[in-house]
Amino acid sequence: MSGHLVGVEITKRYAGLVANNAVEIEVRPGEVVGLIGPNGAGKTTLFDCLTGFTPVTSGRVHLDDRDITELAPAARAELGMARTFQQAKLFGHLTVAENILLGRHRHYRARAWQSAIGLGGRAEREADGAARQVATECGLAPVLDAPVGDLPYGTQRMVEVARALATEPTILLLDEPGAGMDSTESAYFGKLIRRIHDERGLSMLIIEHDVALVSAVCDRVYVLDFGSLIMEGTATEVRNDQRVRDAYLGSAATEDAYA
Ligand SMILES: Nc1ncnc2c1ncn2[C@@H]1O[C@H](COP(=O)(O)OP(=O)(O)OP(=O)(O)O)[C@@H](O)[C@H]1O
Ligand SMILES: [Mg+2]
Repeated sequence: MSGHLVGVEITKRYAGLVANNAVEIEVRPGEVVGLIGPNGAGKTTLFDCLTGFTPVTSGRVHLDDRDITELAPAARAELGMARTFQQAKLFGHLTVAENILLGRHRHYRARAWQSAIGLGGRAEREADGAARQVATECGLAPVLDAPVGDLPYGTQRMVEVARALATEPTILLLDEPGAGMDSTESAYFGKLIRRIHDERGLSMLIIEHDVALVSAVCDRVYVLDFGSLIMEGTATEVRNDQRVRDAYLGSAATEDAYA
């Protein structure tokens, strides 16, 4: 087992439906890996299994050669995993800085997220400084004190990434970070993600329908269809593969994916 994050024969069943069918996936140290597939293919389910938000029906998850299959999401976060969600889970009335601090609180082992904001003295200043640093890295410095709910959608997606980065992860899992972005936003986003990767040497696993974004950002891509992996290769290989084209044909994602 050499990968940073490895899923071994991950199967997840929901009453009568196989959402993940013996999926084998590996993210090597420092790699940016894409995960694509039509709507309902099981991509988010695989993220939930890898990050512990849902228990696997069978299979194992390894992080740095350690079996983490039975660990809760918080314990996996302690080991360096961070994720974002398909539906952003930001606090719209709080500022960008405050939202980022909510990610940061893992470092202070605070019991409740509120305490991240109310930290006293030196710890508070440290957390604040770290949040500002992450914000700058993510191009969010100019909007640090703006309520997140007032910001354009693409910027909000970046705040989610910043909050995940604030936990200082070694592997970051992003669930459709580019969804809803226009092509300008998504090109900017792709560059930023790649730069953050290069600077931090992070491993990344990215679910994304936008093939331009996947091609720009990912070293390697896995394709899921009806819960099963149908191929793995470079973005170019995947884009030219007939099985992948067939999987997307007839699905609602066709136009998005091959626009
Ligand atoms: N909690 C759940 N209970 C029952 N079925 C579920 C649950 N979560 C997901 N599913 C089903 O599992 C399948 C895979 O869903 P999943 O959300 O993983 O797909 P996805 O690839 O992320 O799709 P999308 O591109 O639309 O986000 C779908 O048929 C979905 O309805
Ligand atoms: Mg999904």
